[in-house]
Amino acid sequence: MDLKRRLAEADKKYIWHPFTQMKEWAGEKPLIIEGGEGCHLVDTDGNRYLDGVSSLWVNIHGHRKKEIDEAIRAQIDRVSHSTLLGLSSVPAIQLAERLVEIAQLSFCGRGDPAWSPSDGQAHGPAPADALPSRVFYSDNGSTSVEVALKMAFQYWKHKGVEGKNSFLCLNNAYHGDTLGAVSVGGIDIFHAAFGPLLFKTFRSPSPYCYRCELAVEYPGCGLACLEKMEDILKAHHHEIAALIIEPLVQAAGGMIVFPSGYLKGARDLCAKHHVLFIADEVATGFGRTGRMFACEHESVVPDLICLSKGITGGYLPLAVTVATDEVYNAFLGEFSELKTFFHGHSYTGNPLGCAAALACLDIFEKEGTLEKLAPKISLLEERLSALSRLLHVGNVRNKGLMAGVELVRDKETKAPYAWEEKMGWRVCYLLRDKGILLRPLGNVIVIMPPLAISEEELGGMLDAIGEAIKECCE
Ligand SMILES: Cc1ncc(COP(=O)(O)O)c(C=O)c1O
Repeated sequence: MDLKRRLAEADKKYIWHPFTQMKEWAGEKPLIIEGGEGCHLVDTDGNRYLDGVSSLWVNIHGHRKKEIDEAIRAQIDRVSHSTLLGLSSVPAIQLAERLVEIAQLSFCGRGDPAWSPSDGQAHGPAPADALPSRVFYSDNGSTSVEVALKMAFQYWKHKGVEGKNSFLCLNNAYHGDTLGAVSVGGIDIFHAAFGPLLFKTFRSPSPYCYRCELAVEYPGCGLACLEKMEDILKAHHHEIAALIIEPLVQAAGGMIVFPSGYLKGARDLCAKHHVLFIADEVATGFGRTGRMFACEHESVVPDLICLSKGITGGYLPLAVTVATDEVYNAFLGEFSELKTFFHGHSYTGNPLGCAAALACLDIFEKEGTLEKLAPKISLLEERLSALSRLLHVGNVRNKGLMAGVELVRDKETKAPYAWEEKMGWRVCYLLRDKGILLRPLGNVIVIMPPLAISEEELGGMLDAIGEAIKECCE
């Protein structure tokens, strides 16, 4: 039997794929990747595919990027792993310092210098203890969220404030698949099954203007969803440790882009009602929205920031939760006071991951990755607007290079395709035959290519998406 067939059979025999109905998978020919170059992946038959979702939103500078490859190899020649529990490591220190510098510059140094402290009023720059300044390592987006939730919960205990045993989160939110992250998630199709295992949360409406839960229209609504959030905070702030939010784009919820002012408004409400603000920038971080971090767009300074995915350029699993000194200082005390943050993972701060992350950040600087995004974002927006005219495209939305194209059965009534019809998947399978890899979210075609994508590749992908939508839906 040739190797390719043997691999396909072994895949079916031994792998349980994530988010996959394995009964269906058993009947499919698996696409097995064995190589990559730039923005393309190559399968075992030698076919090339444009990686239109950055290998699940992680790849930034392309595959087999020389500088990242070399940085990992150089670190292997020193040491591949040592623990951060009771020891430190060279790349973990260097990366923490670099991330704090970048975070402070991004969150507080650019854009509107006005900042809202606890009274909710715009003032001068953030005080030093409100800046992101301490890096806690973990392995993936979900663990960075678990860490943030536990830190927020314990922060209040250490401050002597009792009763803040719950969290505020949004409908349509996605923060990962571990149970804490699922508890603050709001996508029923993924999360409802685990209901009995989850902790209690308060839920605010999703700022999903195309399908507004409150049946009002932006901007006339004056951000009514924020008023609902304030109602919850007024009534329950004494029970809420933190709001957790995906800044500007609810990604897995269907690339839902916030109306302008919503994020800043939510931040101000948290400060006003003494609730911490956790920015889950796992999907939006590292340039995806056109700036290094999404919070920058509205000059928001979080109390805790979750970062992962693009942190290593899409090479290795690594995550960080960045805390302000205000949060960090609450955990300081005598050993016997048990204020220690009792949390850590075997591969916490893995040196290979940190070396990849440092190289990834170097490339941002050396190649001016963020500075080169503007024409790509304009091209994307131009083409999205053309797609919006198609008969079965109900809504298009983007922030930077994160975009969603929502397919509908009826444009007039916004009636969706039934999820069992898998219309999003039908379009994506067709695109696969055209050499483009995309993964939909229900009826939403997700477009999230590596930031390194060329304008030519991006334009070609959007043309193909338009053709595939017409072929499938019309
Ligand atoms: C906003 C957000 N938070 C957390 C996660 C979970 O990350 P991971 O899959 O690395 O656990 C994701 C993954 O898509 C995400 O989009």
